[in-house]
Amino acid sequence: MKEIHTKRLFIRKFQKDDWKDLYEYLSDEKVVQYEPYGIMSENDCKKEAMERSNNDVFLAICLKDNMKLIGNLYFCKMEFDTYELGYVFNRSYQGLGYASESCKALFDHAFHNLKARRIIARCNVLNISSWKLLERLHMRREAHYIQKRYFKFDDKNNPIWIDAYQYAILAEEW
Ligand SMILES: CC(C)(COP(=O)(O)OP(=O)(O)OC[C@H]1O[C@@H](n2cnc3c(N)ncnc32)[C@H](O)[C@@H]1OP(=O)(O)O)[C@@H](O)C(=O)NCCC(=O)NCCS
Repeated sequence: MKEIHTKRLFIRKFQKDDWKDLYEYLSDEKVVQYEPYGIMSENDCKKEAMERSNNDVFLAICLKDNMKLIGNLYFCKMEFDTYELGYVFNRSYQGLGYASESCKALFDHAFHNLKARRIIARCNVLNISSWKLLERLHMRREAHYIQKRYFKFDDKNNPIWIDAYQYAILAEEW
């Protein structure tokens, strides 16, 4: 993917040297709370940055001011010209509009250049910051799943079932 520039950010492919910035947020329990994985070690992040540098579905979000990597988007092509969106941002850079700014630029790119027809996103109903972001992006809540899946286990090793929302937007709605 070519780089995308916004007012404050640029969106680029991952590089293997990104592991330190990745570690800063993927080692944060609160940031990964709703992710399918747990906190990552430095070594995990070295491996992760290397894998992401060879994989176009993860996009690095960097500040134009100092090039710092502050989060990532996930954008994966599915069937029928549909893409799935995901996002994880460093806690120090949340609440500043950076996630919205990067997603909006990605939607513009996807609908205009990639000929995306539909973009979807799923999130845990308890993850309010996540579904508020999807609503800021004018996505429609189109499903509310009850106990759809689990990622993690409780102290007694029982699965923690997740209720989830699915949001979507069509090219013609953007
Ligand atoms: C989900 C997540 C990306 C949302 O990030 P975010 O920073 O809240 O989202 P935005 O970029 O849209 O920022 C919006 C907030 O910034 C504020 N803001 C401040 N300056 C702003 C600006 N210049 N422009 C726009 N918004 C601005 C808005 O008022 C809003 O605050 P509010 O939520 O208190 O109303 C973030 O919480 C996150 O990374 N969570 C951990 C990972 C995760 O759970 N991922 C999702 C799994 S499904």
